Amino acid sequence: MRNLSVGRVLRSGAVLFFGAQAALVLAHGDVTPQAVNTETLPQLGEEWRETNPYRGDAEAIRVGDSAYNQNCARCHGLEAISGGMTPDLRKLNDPAEYIDIEESDQWFMTRIRHGAVVDGRVYMPPFEGILSQEAMWAIRSYLDTRKLEE
Ligand code: HEC
Repeated sequence: MRNLSVGRVLRSGAVLFFGAQAALVLAHGDVTPQAVNTETLPQLGEEWRETNPYRGDAEAIRVGDSAYNQNCARCHGLEAISGGMTPDLRKLNDPAEYIDIEESDQWFMTRIRHGAVVDGRVYMPPFEGILSQEAMWAIRSYLDTRKLEE
């Protein structure tokens, strides 16, 4: 897996500032994660999947589009186009960034489940326990449709 160093983030003043802002917003309860209805998708059970079981599924993409807008767009941008303060999630589909789609899926799940919290600063909140595994992979399916060159 690619070593995405926290140091790289900490060296960026812009992201540090942003992180402080994000923590503040969370403290005010302004960004309550939204429940996602995934009952139209095959249910996945307890075990975490290594790769996206819904890849290319039109219904998963539809559910994921809405779930992304409700839970991720405020930080990562509408249609996954970053304003520059957060990683551009279209890079998850950039062959130059990951060895293969499995690695990209695993990095996606690491971040969405555990977030990015450093010394109590919430750069990105963890979504495990808030979004279901089904919702997470639906978001991944939507992000598959977002390519950098578009
Ligand atoms: C409060 C703002 C915020 C929210 C909400 C948020 N993120 Fe993030 N996310 C970040 C920041 C900041 C980083 C960079 C963290 C780092 O590198 O240490 C990040 C990193 C990531 C990464 C790693 C990207 C890379 O290129 O390394 C993924 C994947 C990701 N977020 C997905 C999501 C998804 C999916 C959602 C919605 C369920 C979401 N994020 C919600 C702020 C946020």
